[in-house]
Amino acid sequence: MEAWLRSLVVCTSLALMTGGAGGIQVVEEPGLQVVENGTVDHVVLDCPFVLEAEDNIGLVIKWFHLNNPIAVYQWISGRHAPQATGILEGRLDLQFEVSEDALQRHRALKILRPTTELAGLYTCSISSFADEKLYTQRLLVYSEPQDVKVWTEEQDDDHVTVLCQVDHVFPQPLLRLRQRSAGNDSVALSAVKEVNSWSRGSYNLTVEATVRDDDLDGPTVFECLVTIPDTEVQVLSDTEYHPRVRPVAGEVKTGGGGGNSAVSVMAGLALLLLWRV
Ligand SMILES: *[C@@H]1O[C@H](CO)[C@@H](O)[C@H](O)[C@H]1NC(C)=O
Ligand SMILES: *[C@@H]1O[C@H](CO)[C@@H](O)[C@H](O)[C@H]1NC(C)=O
Ligand SMILES: *[C@@H]1O[C@H](CO)[C@@H](O)[C@H](O)[C@H]1NC(C)=O
Repeated sequence: MEAWLRSLVVCTSLALMTGGAGGIQVVEEPGLQVVENGTVDHVVLDCPFVLEAEDNIGLVIKWFHLNNPIAVYQWISGRHAPQATGILEGRLDLQFEVSEDALQRHRALKILRPTTELAGLYTCSISSFADEKLYTQRLLVYSEPQDVKVWTEEQDDDHVTVLCQVDHVFPQPLLRLRQRSAGNDSVALSAVKEVNSWSRGSYNLTVEATVRDDDLDGPTVFECLVTIPDTEVQVLSDTEYHPRVRPVAGEVKTGGGGGNSAVSVMAGLALLLLWRV
């Protein structure tokens, strides 16, 4: 499975081995929440757990984002109000109560209008004087490609390059090139070259593949399918290409200088005949 899940399992096992007397239990599987950039009012990342009586003292809930060791949220149960710091500063509803239980009340994050900068893995740590447990969730905030461009560039040597480009996509999309002609199902283009760049929080990706005109079966549609893993996003764009028809090899020879070579063959034959006689 994914790396973050493995590390969570390792952390949980470590906590089990070293945890001692405490009895904090995380009661759900790691989760995934998928939202489109700036389109939902809020998203709640919960941190569901149950406690033993000895964990009622000194209970602290912290949330971490990605591998940043500094918490982005902290709540010390009892008198303190929850606090958001770092990327979550000003982005949470701090009044939000996920439960009426005084020891559970502020365990969850209510993120307002989530955007792509806030995407990624969130890990909550539930700690008491006696125990500590971790729980991880992934927040996937995606941004669809505005425009998928597909075009062809003819090369001098009877090859054609097919290119597909997308801008401002998040997270990293998958681009697949296919070709389709009359009487043929679409087939994937292999040996695809990829150029990926990252700027101002989004991906700009170009893929290209080169095919020989001769290998195409008449007019061909080149398709580019853009998907974002773990989302429903699928954008298809295409372009039509008419392969250049190359003159047949024999015609080329008779066209230019062909006369001369025919003459020399005749001369050769004549010489041969003379020599024989
Ligand atoms: C379909 O395309 C493939 C790959 O270009 C080719 O090998 C095959 O002969 C084609 N089939 C037809 C029916 O044109
Ligand atoms: C997501 O939306 C925010 C706010 O509208 C914007 O600043 C950000 O650039 C968007 N992200 C992407 C990848 O387009
Ligand atoms: C995306 O990358 C291509 C080249 O790989 C470049 O021509 C284009 O300007 C880039 N677009 C943006 C918005 O940076």
